[in-house]
Amino acid sequence: MAGKVEEMKVMMINGPNLNMLGKREPSLYGSTTIETIQARVREKAADLGLEATCFQSNHEGEIVEKIHEAADLGIDGIIINPAAYTHTSVAIRDALLSVQIPFIEVHISNVAAREEFRQVNLFSDIAEGTIAGLGAYGYILALDALRERHDIKNQ
Ligand code: DQA
Repeated sequence: MAGKVEEMKVMMINGPNLNMLGKREPSLYGSTTIETIQARVREKAADLGLEATCFQSNHEGEIVEKIHEAADLGIDGIIINPAAYTHTSVAIRDALLSVQIPFIEVHISNVAAREEFRQVNLFSDIAEGTIAGLGAYGYILALDALRERHDIKNQ
């Protein structure tokens, strides 16, 4: 008898200050809260036949540990908005490299059009792809992209 086909599992990780979405600089980051984004991601994931877990932290070490945990949980793809850590965190970059889980980098704002210090990015060169400037919709696009790429690899 054929075994049950395992569901593809994805994890969404949001970094510091993204718990403030809705209140935080709405002209840049919009009015959608993190809770709404997480609910939409879970809903879209279910539509795509994926299982999604969501995590937000303001602490670098917690994000590193969550990425390690993703490997133990057999997560197939990660969506990460490292927020301010995008521009500084060798530790989160190394964590992603250590688990070798494909990931899509998402930014709500168009970082390329912002300050000089935001032009340093420690993730784009190791990401499957980067989505920036499309608001909260970027997370939904990232889910579609992970599903598509996973299916292509497993054909
Ligand atoms: C951000 C862009 C970062 O530069 C910033 O520090 C954030 C959010 C974005 O989603 O646009 O906190 O990652």
